Amino acid sequence: MNRGNELITWSNKLMCGIRLIDEQHKGLVMLVNEMFNHVTGDEKQESEYFQRVIKEAVKYVKIHFATEEKIMLATKFKGYAEHKKEHDAFIINIFDTIHNFQYRKRFNLYSFTKFLKDWILTHIALTDKQYFTYLRSIATRQTDGRLCVNVKECQRS
Ligand SMILES: [Fe+2]
Ligand SMILES: [Fe+2]
Repeated sequence: MNRGNELITWSNKLMCGIRLIDEQHKGLVMLVNEMFNHVTGDEKQESEYFQRVIKEAVKYVKIHFATEEKIMLATKFKGYAEHKKEHDAFIINIFDTIHNFQYRKRFNLYSFTKFLKDWILTHIALTDKQYFTYLRSIATRQTDGRLCVNVKECQRS
């Protein structure tokens, strides 16, 4: 069994320096690793687990996307529309998986976590990185070393 293993290892390369975003990205990585630790190869077990956690997982992902989108809009990031398209496509993809699961009842937790891993890593490394660079260029550094952008969401963290 895979208990305790990591499918994704968090790396500082995935960080942007804005605490709120970095914390949410770490949360996503933890979520995928947690799912990966429930891969048993037993379809019944995996299905039960999936049904138990998928709603909360989708909620977490949606909160993260909404946070990024608010920040991009508030900072007038030019790539907003393209970025949002990727988020929306991802959510649709997840809903398709849930739909297939409900109607065909065939489910493989490993393939699902692998899909999440690939999407999340590629998205952070390529798409999120574009606005990281932009945010860094407009951010101010606080006395404690962290970066701040002038957006309400970020200042609460
Ligand atoms: Fe992100
Ligand atoms: Fe994103």
